[in-house]
Parts: sequence; C-alpha cells; structure tokens
Amino acid sequence: PTATPAPYTFVSVSVSDAAEGQLALVNFEHGFPAADSTDVVPVTAAGSLLTERNDLSLAQPALSALSALAEAFSEQTGGDRLLLTSAYRTLEYQQGVYDDYAAAYGQAAADAYVAAPGTSEHHTGLAADLSSMSKDGERVTLPNHPQFEWLKVHCADYGFILRYPPEKENITHVAYEPWHFRYVGKENAAAVRALGITFEEYIEYLRGLFRVFPPQSPRISVRRSFPLFPIPDTSYTLFRRTKTQARKA
Ligand code: DAL
Ligand code: ZN
Repeated sequence: PTATPAPYTFVSVSVSDAAEGQLALVNFEHGFPAADSTDVVPVTAAGSLLTERNDLSLAQPALSALSALAEAFSEQTGGDRLLLTSAYRTLEYQQGVYDDYAAAYGQAAADAYVAAPGTSEHHTGLAADLSSMSKDGERVTLPNHPQFEWLKVHCADYGFILRYPPEKENITHVAYEPWHFRYVGKENAAAVRALGITFEEYIEYLRGLFRVFPPQSPRISVRRSFPLFPIPDTSYTLFRRTKTQARKA
C-alpha cells in the first residue's frame, strides 16, 4: 500500500544556495577553493555505519544523514552494513589519490575516476565513498549488493544522490562511480531523483528558475520556493500535475 502523494512539494533555495553549502557544485570546471579549511568532524564507526579507516571525517550534516542512511540500509537488508571507505580529503590527500591511481591503473584511468586536486567533491566534506559488509562479515561492493537498487532510490530520503551515474560522463566528466554519494540535503536530493538528472543539470535547472522568476530586488537575499512534484515510489515524473489540476482532482 502506498500513501496518496501530496500534490506537490517545494524546494526552497536562494540564489547563493545554488552554488554554496550543500548545493556547492564542484567539478572539472568549478573548483572548491576552501578545500583545506572545510569544517569537518571525525567519523567513528557507530550504529550501523562501518569505517574502513580510523582517520575519516565528514561535514556534520553529511555524517548525521549517512548514519541515518546506514541504519535504514541495515534494516532493509536484515543486518548488512554500509562501509565508509573515503570521505573528506585535503588537497594533498587528493593529489595522493590521483598519483596512486595513476600508478596502479594508468593516467587515463586516473583522469576518468579521480578529480584533479582542488576540484574534488571530497574537499567539501559532503561526499562519501561507500561499500558494504554483509552480516557474515563479507565485503560486498554496492553494485553487487542485492539491495543496491533500493539504496540508489532511497538514499535521497536521507539527502544523498549517486553523484556519477552511468552514461552521464559527458555531463559529469567522471566515469560511472557506483560508490560515490553526495549529500545535498533531503529536498534537493528528492528533486534530483524526481527529475532524473545529474547534479550539474540540477544546478542549471535552479539557475533557470531564478532567471524565469527573478527575486524582486537583487539587493535583497530572497529565498524562493519552487514547486516540485511528488515522488511516488515508482514514478519520478516532474510536473505531472499542475497545482490547479491537483486541486481539481
Ligand atoms: N572520484 C571523484 C571524482 C573524486 O576524485 O572526487
Ligand atoms: Zn568519491
């Protein structure tokens, strides 16, 4: 049984939000200058969340959300657990990741999978690389986990998106990474899921809304609410119904 969805939901963003904080767009053309001064907290394995190393850290909102997602994953799978393998990275650390990857797999592979230092989402403390551990203690990569489809859909309920989906390399400029999740907040994650688009396209979409519905005065920081349609379990079509149609129904 599924609950009747609300006619529409809102995402509330300001112009600056569409570039900063949980909506910071960091990619091949947008660097993250504050990489080495990100506000992060240490991640300690707790509850259903496992960590691969003991020196991982995340921004607090991402950590809280990840802990909740890990509980839900454990419940959904009857006791399997999410394993955090990489989280916040400094510039120097990202350089090390790149160099190690290039040494192991070649420079082309490193360019496909590892962001240049300064342009990695891991600098924001909002990105989490995840794997899983079965209840029997066996490590299972996410795409090999029977509940990966569930995770890809429901991570948004906790504010996460799968940041580098397959066949979107032309947009993200990163190869498919079934392990890299990005915290963007619940309403943005729900919107990205509803729209079925990449984060690059979502930021472009928000900027388009601001162009269509500009704030009254550019001097005032205005938060605007934009309608986003409900997200039933099986269909993620945006603008399925207009507000008026929903009232009539
Ligand atoms: N693997 C992602 C693209 C990074 O290095 O940030
Ligand atoms: Zn990653």
